[in-house]
Amino acid sequence: MKSLTFATRNEHKIKEVNQILKKFAFPPQPAISVTGLQALNCFDELPETGSTIAENAAQKAQFVFDKFGVDCFAEDTGLFIDALDGRPGVDTAHYAGPERDAQKNMDKVLRELTGVRNRSARFKTVMALMTNRRLHFFEGLVEGSILHQKSGIGGFGYDPIFTPTTSHLSFAQLTAEEKNKISHRYRALVKMIRFLTFSSK
Ligand code: IMP
Repeated sequence: MKSLTFATRNEHKIKEVNQILKKFAFPPQPAISVTGLQALNCFDELPETGSTIAENAAQKAQFVFDKFGVDCFAEDTGLFIDALDGRPGVDTAHYAGPERDAQKNMDKVLRELTGVRNRSARFKTVMALMTNRRLHFFEGLVEGSILHQKSGIGGFGYDPIFTPTTSHLSFAQLTAEEKNKISHRYRALVKMIRFLTFSSK
């Protein structure tokens, strides 16, 4: 089993990525598991000062590579809402303030969309893989819309207010398996795994 460092402290993301790697293995690739920053004894706050999610993903991967010299990947995710001109976008994590509170973030989005009919939105993830001293980028996107209220208790972050176009349920109402078959994170991860497979041949 090959292990790869995931430059994040977000346990939800690590769990989802490992679930995807296990459930949706892409034979004949060797099994891969990911570990977070605690495995490196890294307790630093990772930089996230870019003006795009790709820049943020790159900053995080570069930081971990510079400090620990290991191949790794990082990801940054944004929720892009059409009626809000693409906000929260790169500010998704701290949309309602620096405390990065998921409930407050969702409340702010729901408030801003009160009475708004066009609720179309998308989650976008960019993964930045640092390998052989070079960065490679992989993007995953899922189209959907913002519900009128929070629904469901699964998932994390904005999942209770986002419904993918392929379902009438929120991401938080889907099982982890259902979310992980269609999510932005799954789509970016598939591209990264294919790249790792072909570049190692
Ligand atoms: P970051 O990529 O860790 O900076 O996270 C950006 C923001 O998006 C945070 O508020 C996360 O909770 C949220 N987020 C990231 N991935 C997901 C997801 O799969 N579903 C819902 N919210 C997410």
